[in-house]
Amino acid sequence: MKKTCYVTTPIYYSSGNVHIGNSYTTIACDVFARFHRSLGYDTLFLTGMDEHGLKIEEAATAAGKTPQQLVDELAETTEQLWKDMKISYNDFIRTSEDRHIRVVQKIFNSLQEKGDIYLGTYEGDYCVSCEAFFTKTQLNEDGTCPDCGKPTRKVQEECYFLRLSKYQNQLLKHIKTNPDFIQPETRRNEVVSFIERGLEDLAVSRTSFRWGIPVSADSKHIIYVWIDALSNYLSALGYLSDNDSLYQKYWVNGEKIVHVVGKDIIRFHAVYWPIMLMALNVPIRFKLYAHGWVLMKEGKMSKSVGNIIYPREVIARYGLDALRLYLIKEMPLGNDCVFSYDRFIEKYNADLANDLGNLLNRTLTMINKYFSGKLKKPEHNYYAGDPDLENVIDKTIKKYLDSFANFRFQTGLNELWQLINRTNKYIDETTPWVVAKFDSRLAELNSILYHLYESLRLTAIMLWPVIPDTAETMFKEIGLSVQDFRYLHYGQTKSVQVAREPKILFKRLDIEEELKKNQTADLKSLINIDDFNKLDLRVGEVIEAEKMAKSDKLLILKIKIESEVRQIVSGLAESYPSESLIGKKLIVVANLKPVKIRGYLSEGMILTAEGDNLPLEVLEVKKHNSYSKVN
Ligand code: MSP
Repeated sequence: MKKTCYVTTPIYYSSGNVHIGNSYTTIACDVFARFHRSLGYDTLFLTGMDEHGLKIEEAATAAGKTPQQLVDELAETTEQLWKDMKISYNDFIRTSEDRHIRVVQKIFNSLQEKGDIYLGTYEGDYCVSCEAFFTKTQLNEDGTCPDCGKPTRKVQEECYFLRLSKYQNQLLKHIKTNPDFIQPETRRNEVVSFIERGLEDLAVSRTSFRWGIPVSADSKHIIYVWIDALSNYLSALGYLSDNDSLYQKYWVNGEKIVHVVGKDIIRFHAVYWPIMLMALNVPIRFKLYAHGWVLMKEGKMSKSVGNIIYPREVIARYGLDALRLYLIKEMPLGNDCVFSYDRFIEKYNADLANDLGNLLNRTLTMINKYFSGKLKKPEHNYYAGDPDLENVIDKTIKKYLDSFANFRFQTGLNELWQLINRTNKYIDETTPWVVAKFDSRLAELNSILYHLYESLRLTAIMLWPVIPDTAETMFKEIGLSVQDFRYLHYGQTKSVQVAREPKILFKRLDIEEELKKNQTADLKSLINIDDFNKLDLRVGEVIEAEKMAKSDKLLILKIKIESEVRQIVSGLAESYPSESLIGKKLIVVANLKPVKIRGYLSEGMILTAEGDNLPLEVLEVKKHNSYSKVN
């Protein structure tokens, strides 16, 4: 019987805005699933959507839709995105599906029958946006949510609780006797100290909204998101349903079970989920890998900062594999990584165009030029450096297999790039173009190119889980029909036939050019007309202008707007001599809160255009006057 591997992503909130950060989780799981499939594991890769809760209920009302309509649309968009990103999932579970709802209700009832869920009263502060409750000490000083900074609501309601405290010691014991249960170790230590501070029972139902799974025996209560969401890992396997064969195969008797989550949701998976399983008498067979976040230079991606990057935008410009490789190679397990276009382009040029692309192109060109695309396995080595290259290949394969099996993709890829670079160096050392000058050295030339070929072939196989499209193109180019890990050894190829006209896989990018394109792409997040209408824009005529003492940039302007004269401090001095502005009719933001700039009151702002190394330019009207509307 084949070994099994069950790998899961968190199920995504239905918000329709999967960005490059949260798509990291799914890409990483895809790499893990593909890797295990190529090793011959019978692999089940699950992803899906977390569709219930107040936020969805409110968003649906605002959009004039039913919650079900809204989540249906969002699930379709998300699934399409995953397909376009070559995510090789086997099942897509949605919490609004019957197969899930039935199981969640049974889980809830069974925990209640056992006395592990009981009815009580909840008092606390709730953040609608994060769908989370906070204790007083967790809130910001002004009472706002510690995660998103939005106002929280006071809530007091009757609700059901899950007895966490009862399982505290059992859980600690499990974590301590299974050191690789939570990885990396830093995250494991955080979880242990959280549990050691003492677990409070967890509120697991709500009566304040309707869009969710009702408790079957007490339907005014909706089962709160985490019991609902976490159960997806079992409901998708048919646990507690008529046919639980997948549960038996992948969970009870499975070889590897891996949940992958971002660092923000570790506690739910490392504490609440195993306790639910203990209470249900389901064996805790999974390992938890917690990864860091994809950040921007300014910190988190956020709508309000306007710095969110969506995968489609990157893929449209640089291709899917460039994005997949960047995210997987840049993210060390457990830490954060930063996404920036300058680094992205730099890595694209170095890793793909130079190192990998060149190796493929140089090798295939030479096999074509010197041997019309065909090689034979050499009978022995000729060049003294051959054993070294063969050793590097062997060592890389070992390290790669070990790190990928343990979710350490960055480590594995760094090893692989060392092999690529070693192989490029081997070309420079062996100088095949010199050897080719001597008819008597044909067998030696064949051996050199065969070494290059084998290194490329093995590289393509190892790259397949990460950049499947590129690897498959490479397979075609090098005439490889078996992409199996069983052939992951140097010297397994008996004869070679490569494509006669090699393709250029990745063209070098001009960094300056690309970064220029980003400046327009770097738009702020969308606003609606109500946001725009908050601005009071007016035409104002400059009646006085003087340079501020001790400042190279600032001018103090007196501007007449209708009958009122305002003082505005503006950074125009380097672009306009003060007197040249007098008489100009400019566009002024008239309802900006007055501020003091270097001691001078400024009661508004002048609109200007800037960029492209040109001086600032004021926006001016010629015909209109200060009674005209600006919009
Ligand atoms: N619905 C819950 C999960 C329930 S699982 C039983 C949820 N959904 S989410 O849509 O908010 O997040 C999905 C995943 O994306 C989480 O693992 C989260 O950590 C991850 N990420 C969100 N932003 C991220 C980055 N900027 N970078 C990397 N991962 C990030 O939580």
